[in-house]
Amino acid sequence: MQLLTILATYLATLFVTNSGPGEVRDAFYRAKIVPDVLPAFNPTLDLYIEFDKVAVYEPGPRLHVKDTDGCPTFVIHSSQATDMLSKYVVAMVDPDAYYPDNSSVSQVRHYLGANLTVGGIGSFWTSPIKNLTEPITNWMSPSPPDGSDPHRYVVLVYQQPWNFTLDDIKPYLNSSSERENFNLTSFASAVGLAEPVGGTYFLVGPDGSSDSRK
Ligand SMILES: *[C@@H]1O[C@H](CO)[C@@H](O)[C@H](O)[C@H]1NC(C)=O
Ligand SMILES: *[C@@H]1O[C@H](CO)[C@@H](O)[C@H](O)[C@H]1NC(C)=O
Ligand SMILES: *[C@@H]1O[C@H](CO)[C@@H](O)[C@H](O)[C@H]1NC(C)=O
Ligand SMILES: *[C@@H]1O[C@H](CO)[C@@H](O)[C@H](O)[C@H]1NC(C)=O
Ligand SMILES: *[C@@H]1O[C@H](CO)[C@@H](O)[C@H](O)[C@H]1NC(C)=O
Ligand SMILES: *[C@@H]1O[C@H](CO)[C@@H](O)[C@H](O)[C@H]1NC(C)=O
Repeated sequence: MQLLTILATYLATLFVTNSGPGEVRDAFYRAKIVPDVLPAFNPTLDLYIEFDKVAVYEPGPRLHVKDTDGCPTFVIHSSQATDMLSKYVVAMVDPDAYYPDNSSVSQVRHYLGANLTVGGIGSFWTSPIKNLTEPITNWMSPSPPDGSDPHRYVVLVYQQPWNFTLDDIKPYLNSSSERENFNLTSFASAVGLAEPVGGTYFLVGPDGSSDSRK
């Protein structure tokens, strides 16, 4: 019985790991997340997102607004044992607000969490990362305006530097910082975050309206 459970978990892992950092990297260039959000992208691990009803195991799926409600679970997949012991910072930004063809308020910061960790060796190297402290910016669900084309929601994971404390980052980001007009690249370089080690993205358009904006 136990063996069957382990086998089933292992097989499930094989199914969700058919993407790989190289494919995600290519997808980011194709979707122009490089250069729109990042100057370059060289992921070393896979990042998955699990909502209550849907999951993002490969980059770029089109999701419904109603399925992206509520902070998801972030999951890393890596064959490096040290990745299971690191602390991570995870950010989600929308570079397409309010509209992909007029992104004048971008980026919008939908989520910023720190102190995310596996806290031990995960099962077959695929493990949820859990937050030990409250998010810096609470999860805000996608809600593209009526008539908008789908927006790209870009989720990135960084190794957390030793000095990424609320006090240290306060000059750059604090409770009075607005979500709009955020620049993840300049924030990252100001606070000493190195390049992201993983990422993914998904698309969300307004539910129940036509796909194109007239
Ligand atoms: C783009 O959006 C901003 C604010 O949302 C608006 O002020 C501006 O006029 C828009 N520009 C164009 C070219 O539509
Ligand atoms: C982190 O913790 C808070 C509660 O302190 C919770 O509301 C939030 O959804 C958690 N999850 C993530 C991924 O930040
Ligand atoms: C991460 O956790 C440490 C220890 O609890 C805390 O001092 C620090 O402020 C946290 N960092 C953030 C950005 O929340
Ligand atoms: C809070 O962050 C903003 C940038 O979003 C910065 O301009 C401001 O000086 C910071 N406030 C404090 C008290 O550090
Ligand atoms: C963010 O800031 C970097 C420099 O720090 C700049 O090159 C880039 O164009 C900015 N991105 C946006 C979307 O404004
Ligand atoms: C953390 O330290 C690095 C140097 O090790 C520095 O570049 C960075 O600005 C510091 N971060 C903060 C938030 O002060």
